[in-house]
Amino acid sequence: MATKAPVLICPAMNVNMYNNAVVKENISRLTAMGYLFMVPGYGELACKAEGYGRLPEIPDIVEEVESILTPKDLRGEKILVTAGPTREPFDPVRYITNYSSGKMGYALAIAAKRRGAHVTLISGPTALPTPRDMTFIPVASAVDMRDAVMEHLDSATVVIKAAAVADYRPSSRSARKIKKGGDGLDLQLERNPDIILEVGRKKGNRILVGFAVETENLVENARNKLKKKNMDIIVANDVTKEGAGFGYDTNIIKIISADGKIENVPLMGKMEVADRILDKVKKIITGRQSAPRRRPALRDK
Ligand code: PMT
Repeated sequence: MATKAPVLICPAMNVNMYNNAVVKENISRLTAMGYLFMVPGYGELACKAEGYGRLPEIPDIVEEVESILTPKDLRGEKILVTAGPTREPFDPVRYITNYSSGKMGYALAIAAKRRGAHVTLISGPTALPTPRDMTFIPVASAVDMRDAVMEHLDSATVVIKAAAVADYRPSSRSARKIKKGGDGLDLQLERNPDIILEVGRKKGNRILVGFAVETENLVENARNKLKKKNMDIIVANDVTKEGAGFGYDTNIIKIISADGKIENVPLMGKMEVADRILDKVKKIITGRQSAPRRRPALRDK
């Protein structure tokens, strides 16, 4: 009661106690006074009863604290993030994919959520835990990802395409496991939809952030992609550098804006990198809000 800091209460008790009318009323009164509560976890309780009453998982409590302490400068924004790799199957047990772990895209989704945005995360298959407090849509192939992005595009104010989408998929998919035979196996590939190109064509007032993985001519190639696909920002990763790109917990990037400006972000954790990218997005939003409105043209008398 002495602290001026926000107070987060994580209840842990017997399920009947948690559902007791007195406890419920006290939680409501404290909530009305500004105290914050987490819903307890479900499962077997210390007293062997089953139900809601477990102390929330520690990583979830830590995430809740991070969220509470982060200024909400993206409140009101609806941010659609894509993350992870896509899988392009050619028989029931095999597929083509890439090395994306999803860490960069998940960091962006979590950072945007902490900053108050409503986040939709469309994710290819990853080993990461599903982030809390956002709409999470798991997909597998590039075609699935395209359909999910187009379905949720209307409501988005910002689209961030951090997913590593496979450019090609096998032209056919065998219903049975392809058996070994001969010395080699020819796989015929066909183009996948270019999701960001399609979003760029329909983007309206949305802010569109793309990524570029390059192994040579980083800036030039990234700038070409930005222009061709109507992006506002492109984040260029030089994946030849140690600590940058696929799989690492860190990244080294260049944030290139449509006006040609480049911000060099040195090696740092992907959560911090995500905040740098979101700072750029916020700057565009603020710039648009403070741009003088054009006066209506005077009519000829
Ligand atoms: O997931 P991590 O292990 O953390 O690694 C992070 C990352 C390196 C995967 C990520 O930061 C990144 O760079 N993602 C984009 C990788 C990529 O596909 O780059 P690209 O240059 O091939 O594509 C350019 C842009 O077009 C990307 O925004 C991509 O999402 C998009 N794209 C690509 C192909 C396609 N068919 N449709 C698309 O929308």
